[in-house]
Amino acid sequence: MRRLSALYWLLLCDVAHSASLLDRGQYLVEALMACDNCHTPRSTEGYDYSRRFSGGSQVFTDKDYSVRGSNISPDLESGVGPWSDAELKAAIVSGVSPKGRLAPVMPSESYRALTPNDLNAVVAFLRAKRPIKSDAPPQERHGALEPRRAIPGAETPLSDAGLADPLQQGLYVASLARCMSCHSGETDGAPDPERRLGQGGRIFRTPAGATVASNITSHPTKGVGAWTDQELKRAIIEGTGRDGKPLAPTMANLSKAHFSKMAERDIEALIAWLRTTPPKE
Ligand code: HEC
Ligand code: HEC
Repeated sequence: MRRLSALYWLLLCDVAHSASLLDRGQYLVEALMACDNCHTPRSTEGYDYSRRFSGGSQVFTDKDYSVRGSNISPDLESGVGPWSDAELKAAIVSGVSPKGRLAPVMPSESYRALTPNDLNAVVAFLRAKRPIKSDAPPQERHGALEPRRAIPGAETPLSDAGLADPLQQGLYVASLARCMSCHSGETDGAPDPERRLGQGGRIFRTPAGATVASNITSHPTKGVGAWTDQELKRAIIEGTGRDGKPLAPTMANLSKAHFSKMAERDIEALIAWLRTTPPKE
């Protein structure tokens, strides 16, 4: 009897453990890493969750590639169902698939910082989704497909112990949410978070028009140094500018669909970290 209840207890622990792993994976994917943004097709109302992760609608074209977000549902033919955990992890944090280097649109540089536990959680969450078949045209890639640069300090996995420090936590959130991939200035056509962290200037072209990513360094006039925490929080989770008007869809769609789900602790850490970025003009 005692043995039975011990077994039962172990089983319960295991179920609870995997539930919390899935919850954590869901939080990371939905509130911070926004995989849907490129990997889920869109309808006029937003993401088509009935075909979640079966591949994105948007085609990204550059001289070296023409790709769309792949089918990352567990479908055995058109998705990543047959991939091993190690293969999935390599695609997420290193931008390499079993067929070779992925186009740098897949933002692996932002995900390299994932702690081992969080990377397990993301993989578990993806694997628990419904397999969806798709028939997207093959991806086109040529050239060297240079990986993009990570934020200094977020180039390798962070540790759970390290994340106890709120500024490390803020850096972690900024990295996973790709803030600095969009908001850093460019050098030779690629975001340069080493020299131009948060400086702004990248141009995003969408059907709604072109937008320039803002300077979000601590600079008091060119950046967001003079904004209050409340104003920053509102911009991040609602997509509303300092003047109360909606920000362009490149930012506002992410805010509404994803960053609005951020935990209070993560928002506070992110804002505290943003305030430590060196002012740039
Ligand atoms: C900014 C857009 C974007 C975001 C955000 C994004 N991806 Fe990707 N991802 C891509 C693109 C584009 C490709 C295809 C690249 C190629 O084929 O060269 C890709 C490829 C992949 C692949 C390789 C699949 C294959 O069949 O080769 C995996 C796995 C993957 N992404 C997982 C993820 C996960 C998990 C997330 C969220 C944690 C994520 N991606 C977020 C754009 C994105
Ligand atoms: C896909 C690219 C992209 C990502 C990812 C992104 N942003 Fe933005 N963000 C933009 C663009 C483009 C604008 C300019 C919108 C406008 O001018 O209406 C913007 C505007 C802002 C603004 C308003 C600044 C101002 O001066 O009005 C803030 C603050 C901001 N982003 C912070 C962040 C933070 C923090 C993150 C990460 C949690 C983030 N953004 C992620 C593209 C992005």
